[in-house]
Amino acid sequence: MASPALFEQAETQWNLDKLYADLAEAKREVVPHARSHELTELERTRLRGLLLGYSPADIADYQCVVEGTVEVSLSNGIYRYVEALTGRDRTSLESWRDVATWLQAAGYSAQQVAINWSQMPDIPKLYGREAELTQLKDWILANPSPKSKPSPSARLIAINGPAGIGKTSLSIALAKTIQSEFEGVIWQSLRYRPKLEDLLNQWLVQLPDATAHSPTGASEPVNCYDQLTVLMDYLRDHRCLVILDNFETLLTGGSFMGEYESGYEAYGELLRRIGEQQHQSCVLVTSREGSRDMPKSRASSSPIRHLDLAGLKPQAAMEILKMEQLEETGKSHWSMLISQYRGNPLMLRIVAMTIHELFEGNVRQFLGQRMTLFGDIKYLINQQYERLSSEEQDILVHLADAAEPVPLESLTQPYRLDAVKGLLGRSLIEKSSAGFTLIPVVMEYVRHHLP
Ligand SMILES: Nc1ncnc2c1ncn2[C@@H]1O[C@H](COP(=O)(O)OP(=O)(O)OP(=O)(O)O)[C@@H](O)[C@H]1O
Ligand SMILES: [Mg+2]
Repeated sequence: MASPALFEQAETQWNLDKLYADLAEAKREVVPHARSHELTELERTRLRGLLLGYSPADIADYQCVVEGTVEVSLSNGIYRYVEALTGRDRTSLESWRDVATWLQAAGYSAQQVAINWSQMPDIPKLYGREAELTQLKDWILANPSPKSKPSPSARLIAINGPAGIGKTSLSIALAKTIQSEFEGVIWQSLRYRPKLEDLLNQWLVQLPDATAHSPTGASEPVNCYDQLTVLMDYLRDHRCLVILDNFETLLTGGSFMGEYESGYEAYGELLRRIGEQQHQSCVLVTSREGSRDMPKSRASSSPIRHLDLAGLKPQAAMEILKMEQLEETGKSHWSMLISQYRGNPLMLRIVAMTIHELFEGNVRQFLGQRMTLFGDIKYLINQQYERLSSEEQDILVHLADAAEPVPLESLTQPYRLDAVKGLLGRSLIEKSSAGFTLIPVVMEYVRHHLP
């Protein structure tokens, strides 16, 4: 028989009373004909065990029962109630760890401060990206790989890559798996270009006792740079994960990469302080473009890390085509399609929907049209083209006119090396031993769609 006191330490970390009450409501939905909807003592005990990080096997050990008994009762009970409570599909829970992660994201953890966490976009199933997730986790949690020396945990990480490559999706998947390691988590989309002082104002009122860190002792710091000092003190004393999504919206188009729009320069100071000062938090920035405040050091001792996100590997990209129910006209056609779009998941989803609508799902027929650029894909490329400097645009035209790869020497005269780097960084051009070329969609855009 279960002891009601078992796993009672969960009390200090979770809002158990509210959780029991809300799960009872969820249970009413899942088993409407049950005599009572209150959680049983056994359900409460096992829930507390999961919340403390005990696996079903551990819980079975503590309760001196066989593991299968715990598994079955969780599958018929707590797992289903948690799915209902957090608005997920029935049987979408894949691991017992999801219970704590989902309930934490839903705000039931007593300790964690979660700012704008519920504003994270809901992402469909993520295919591939295992290596990237492992790399990011190793950087943030400072797990040394078997071959390398231990390195300090990353304070600032940039995920860079072109539109639709999956930066936001990857950062969300990562955040969900590691959020329990942090005292505070902040999700911040920069899509609508908030001023840094407004953001800091919002965050600091939600971070408990943050203003107590104010060096002047004033309850409200006076300007943006004072606010930043208060934030930095907080990030030093509390381990937080901050995600800034769509950083490129703060950078100017039409010039070389990394300049801030007027009025947004303070974000540069934020990145500089995050990278340079000692603290125990991690700020993750997703951006289509690099910023000059994120030097690209490859040294493993650097607390600043970069992940240049490339397209999906063929296996993962095929899963997207399968999901869109394209006809399997032969593996080579699918491979050709994936290669044309360089494994960009958003482009593959758009093209798959078009093939479905216009070619009845037949990839071979679509490829026969020899057309890669249309609708939203054209819009994505156009968006990126418009933000280029005139020198970068000239290089694209030069490459589109050339019938074969162009070596660097022919590009840098009279062009600047920065322009070539900028285009590579935006994944609009590719480098091989023979020289530089445009990726196919950009080639079609420059040759046939430029006004
Ligand atoms: N690994 C993946 N598996 C399946 N779908 C994916 C994957 N990565 C991204 N997607 C899908 O591709 C689309 C674009 O992804 P996402 O928004 O993460 O790209 P992004 O790099 O953040 O783009 P942007 O630069 O516009 O912000 C989304 O619909 C997303 O669901
Ligand atoms: Mg994004």
